[in-house]
Amino acid sequence: MEESQTFSADSYFATQLPPASLDTDVKGVRAFLEKQREHGRKVVLVTSGGTTVPLELNVVRFLDNFSAGTRGATSAEYFLKAGYSVIFMHRQFSLQPFSRHYSHSTNPFLDFLEIDSPPPPTSDAPYPYTHDPPSPAPIQPQITVTPTERVALASVLRAYKAVHEQGTLHTLTFVTVNDYLWLLRAVSQEMSVLKRNAMYYLAAAVSDFFLPRQKMSEHKIQSGKGSLHIEMDQVPKVLKPMVAEWTRDGYIVSFKLETDQALLIPKAKQALERYGHQVVIGNDLHHRKHRVVLVTPAPSSPPKVGDQAKQIDGPVATKYVESWIEIDPSPPPSAAPKEIEEDIIDELLKRHQAWIEGEIIPRN
Ligand code: PMT
Repeated sequence: MEESQTFSADSYFATQLPPASLDTDVKGVRAFLEKQREHGRKVVLVTSGGTTVPLELNVVRFLDNFSAGTRGATSAEYFLKAGYSVIFMHRQFSLQPFSRHYSHSTNPFLDFLEIDSPPPPTSDAPYPYTHDPPSPAPIQPQITVTPTERVALASVLRAYKAVHEQGTLHTLTFVTVNDYLWLLRAVSQEMSVLKRNAMYYLAAAVSDFFLPRQKMSEHKIQSGKGSLHIEMDQVPKVLKPMVAEWTRDGYIVSFKLETDQALLIPKAKQALERYGHQVVIGNDLHHRKHRVVLVTPAPSSPPKVGDQAKQIDGPVATKYVESWIEIDPSPPPSAAPKEIEEDIIDELLKRHQAWIEGEIIPRN
């Protein structure tokens, strides 16, 4: 393999090809943003799901980053509920707002349906299932939802239909880390016209390493020559140009995933120092559904007593504020279901509003 090199964001985009659908995607985003601006709505870009790194140009094998897309899909719903318009940029086939409630693995939709009419007559088939049209006259089956599921389904369905009617959700898909980077840059640049009315909520799990197309094998890598050695290059840290060049005054929230909780605060502070954005949400893999920490540069005035925020020292003169959000990991069965994203979004809405009103000093 050739020697590895360090890619800046500029050299990355100068040498790696954009996804074929980029121009069409950008046109769609532009039209969506125009409509949202007419209505004076705030817009949030939510990125969600993992990114793949293909090992071959005719791809058979790839590396993947962990993420089911739960955080992104759930958060998008709470943003919509709060009146934001959402560009939901997600990994193909990862969870999506609304349909996530009936994911095929945890809540199979077909289990909630009942057929009230008798099955059509079949020949000797071992079970009443066929792709052939029934003959002679098809009986129109009556399909209903299991009574115990109706209230929950109706609530999801109402929200889903309302969002579609209002046109406040726009969906984009990516698969590879290359698709993700090109899309992220293009969408951020389009959204920059919204200035402070734009929020960027980066929950996708982005690969740190990739194989430039110039180094990829064209065809499937053949086995039989012993172990496989691949040297990957580092993906440029795109948060830096995103903050400094692509977005204008937007409110940027990034996530930090760790498996060692002790690293959350130092890593979050490091990210804020390096990239100069507004919030890092630290989550550790095993507790991410009921405990997260929001780390922000300290405002000019110290946090109020009792707001549960704690001022912590950074290595230089900068101070940071950490605010933990927790929900009960094992609530009693009688308790109303609660998702931590509801509290995360609630907190971010207040902070974004303060940012819009200029209470928070803009980044330089
Ligand atoms: O979908 P779920 O199963 O619910 O899981 C949700 C989650 C755990 C994946 C999510 O909450 C989360 O933590 N997402 C971020 C995971 C991640 O990629 O962390 P990171 O440490 O690799 O990246 C931190 C930040 O740096 C990210 O905001 C990323 O946008 C940024 N980054 C990363 C790579 C890169 N090349 N450039 C970047 O700027």
